Amino acid sequence: MEKTEVMTPKSLDDLIKLLHKVFESDKINVEEVQQIMEAYDSNPQEWKKFAMFDPTSSIHDHTDSHCFMKMLQGELKETLFEWPKNKTQDVGDMVQKSQSILKENKCAYINDSLGLHRVENDSHTEGSVSLHLYSPPFDTCQTFDERTGHKNTVKMTFWSKFGKRTQSEMTVSQENN
Ligand code: NI
Repeated sequence: MEKTEVMTPKSLDDLIKLLHKVFESDKINVEEVQQIMEAYDSNPQEWKKFAMFDPTSSIHDHTDSHCFMKMLQGELKETLFEWPKNKTQDVGDMVQKSQSILKENKCAYINDSLGLHRVENDSHTEGSVSLHLYSPPFDTCQTFDERTGHKNTVKMTFWSKFGKRTQSEMTVSQENN
């Protein structure tokens, strides 16, 4: 494969512009998107107004979408799981495939064919901030009970848009990573 020069975003705005350009194409190269997202050197001044903190997410799928997760601050532990085999009955503990630590500025990638995941911050002292890109966007996803494999459909909600709190229903916002 031809080696292409990695575009280096100079700011978060620049990163978003580059990504829009890349996603104009019908064909997306996952590695290229990861490289561009990793090449953005996280600057809290640029993203802090968008940052919000939530408790740990549950095990979830990504609704046939592609998910890129760029670490802006701190570290997150990502645990990959197999899809539960039996969809209708209790199947016991869900099977872990792997576990990895995502470090600052790294960009992870997942889709449903790779399995399910849970993302958590093990640190008691440092918050973690990650930037997520989903293509295509989705409205609902499924969460899974680690001990039974039972799934629930949850609706995705926006906590904020463009840095402003959305006029939301008084429901708990769903973690969408
Ligand atoms: Ni996720």
